[in-house]
Amino acid sequence: MTIIDGKDLSQKIKSEIAIEVEKIKSAGGKTPHLAAVLVGENPASKVYVRNKVRSCEQVGFKSSLVQKDIDITEEELLETVHFLNNDPDIDGFIVQLPLPKHINEELVTLAIDPKKDVDGFHPVNFGRMALGLPCYLPATPFGIVTMLDRYNIETSGKHAVVIGRSNIVGTPMSILLSRKAKIGNCTVTITHSRTKDLPSVVRQADIIIAAIGIPNFVKADMVKEGAVVIDVGINRVDDDTAKRGYRLVGDVDYQGVSEKCSFITPVPGGVGPMTVTSLMLNTLKASRKEIYGE
Ligand code: GUN
Repeated sequence: MTIIDGKDLSQKIKSEIAIEVEKIKSAGGKTPHLAAVLVGENPASKVYVRNKVRSCEQVGFKSSLVQKDIDITEEELLETVHFLNNDPDIDGFIVQLPLPKHINEELVTLAIDPKKDVDGFHPVNFGRMALGLPCYLPATPFGIVTMLDRYNIETSGKHAVVIGRSNIVGTPMSILLSRKAKIGNCTVTITHSRTKDLPSVVRQADIIIAAIGIPNFVKADMVKEGAVVIDVGINRVDDDTAKRGYRLVGDVDYQGVSEKCSFITPVPGGVGPMTVTSLMLNTLKASRKEIYGE
């Protein structure tokens, strides 16, 4: 069994990005610049955004954290988005989700200029992904594809079972794994809360993508011997013995499943760091105008 070390791989890729940034700077080019909009005080969102800002520092990007009160109106947030769309120094930006209930996330996502949508959430980027056109891939699926690639995991002809159908992980992952590409050519089954006898479907998988948001959901008896297991879950569970009062666990029962599978991503240190690094890769692409030109 091989542990897919997302932390180590993401460091490696960040070093590669840092070298590229140095080249851009020494050629007199503009420093890539990512902005992150954070609304309110959601603790998980604050951690994610802090990690994104820290990663920008590590690779030599400029970053701007735009913090807004939880009671910001939808109109004000849309104004912020328009401001960032029109700021020529900002190559890409993200609006951290979830947003407070009184704000329509769909409307905010639609307002982001697809050229600066480094999260890949805008329907233009999502549609381009589905059609196999150049686009910003959503960061988590992009990170997973990169892990499969860098660990030389064969996907062609394999049965991939995706657990969860979210817009940001399950659905795009199912599209990416079925496309005609080096990491792709899978036969894909997407499963969700209405799937009948989900364990028997997951048992058929050569590749499992667990993105359902339920701690330890995938148990050893749901996993075929030798399967590749990608755990997207980052669940906080209460733990009085932990300094913070909680610990992070994935959607996969790591201890049991790791004895049966061929590859597994740990939580933490698997998909999470790769997600942030993929955002850095998208920002580099944005600064180079790789997807949409000038
Ligand atoms: N919330 C959870 N994951 C993400 C992400 O990748 N991007 C944004 N903007 N919000 C998120």
